[in-house]
Amino acid sequence: MELTDRPRRLRTDGVRSLVRETSLSAADLIAPVFVDATATERVPIDSMPGHERVPVAEAADRVSEIRETGVEAVMLFGIPESKDPTGSRAYAADGVIQRATRRITAETDAYVIGDVCLCEYTDHGHCGVLEPDAAENPTLTVRNDETLDLLARTAVAQAEAGADMVAPSSMTDGMVAAIREALDDAGFDHVPILSYAAKYESAFYGPFREAADGAPAFGDRRHYQMDPANRREARREAALDVEEGADVLMVKPALPYLDVVGDLRREFDRPIAAYNVSGEYAMLHAAAEKGWLDLESVAIESLQSIKRAGADLIVTYFAEDVAEHL
Ligand code: PBG
Repeated sequence: MELTDRPRRLRTDGVRSLVRETSLSAADLIAPVFVDATATERVPIDSMPGHERVPVAEAADRVSEIRETGVEAVMLFGIPESKDPTGSRAYAADGVIQRATRRITAETDAYVIGDVCLCEYTDHGHCGVLEPDAAENPTLTVRNDETLDLLARTAVAQAEAGADMVAPSSMTDGMVAAIREALDDAGFDHVPILSYAAKYESAFYGPFREAADGAPAFGDRRHYQMDPANRREARREAALDVEEGADVLMVKPALPYLDVVGDLRREFDRPIAAYNVSGEYAMLHAAAEKGWLDLESVAIESLQSIKRAGADLIVTYFAEDVAEHL
């Protein structure tokens, strides 16, 4: 054998870390936090071991725990005290996220990102204002342009409460432009927008919908979220968001969509984020519980793969656990 090229030479213990192409650190990770206006104590989320809904009064403590692991950024999701057809508790000055944000920014140095969507706040569970007959006629769903104003108000309410960044996740056409304009008009031109640019209509969101009580009361979200079969369309979505002023582009879910993460990395000169969603977390936990997988190893391998595909930052329920092992 006359092998001149032997890749194994670079796999010995001493050199392996020198030639490693991607690195994972706590600074790359964003931890989701569920704040529940109806809770008086922390309530564990069964399908997401280690996660819980926390009352507003404990939001800052929860974030401090996360910060102790080295994770500096959190993404806040709210469970409101009441729901209505237009999701008005999303943009109320005293809405759950706004109250939690005020406390967190007063008591910690965390970087606070607000999820901007209406599905947790509407009584029908869709991500915007509905057509009048939507419940009877499944081809009618969310009224796009009427939803824009409510999303813009939500983003401004979050910025007024002290959110460092806003993350619109409703897949409403024009949402980034509407939010950018509203933030600028309200004096928040320094607040960046992390756009869920390519958010798919995915079955991997199951546990989240239980956690945030945001499942649609009827129908599904395929009229506004992307078809999992589509790849080129993600570029179109991202291009629109860049044009509209998005500062960071996110792909969601992460692991089943790494081709899309790679595409956006190569084509757009913006930081790329990926959302390692609730189902991705729950399935590894479930397999680990059965003794079929080693949780810590598969969690790190998953996050490493998301970075290798091209993500700069990752929203993940593994943030705290993995950060402690890095
Ligand atoms: C709100 C929103 C969802 C998730 C994040 N923001 C749910 C959905 O679209 O159904 C899912 C996150 C996860 O599964 O971890 N629109």
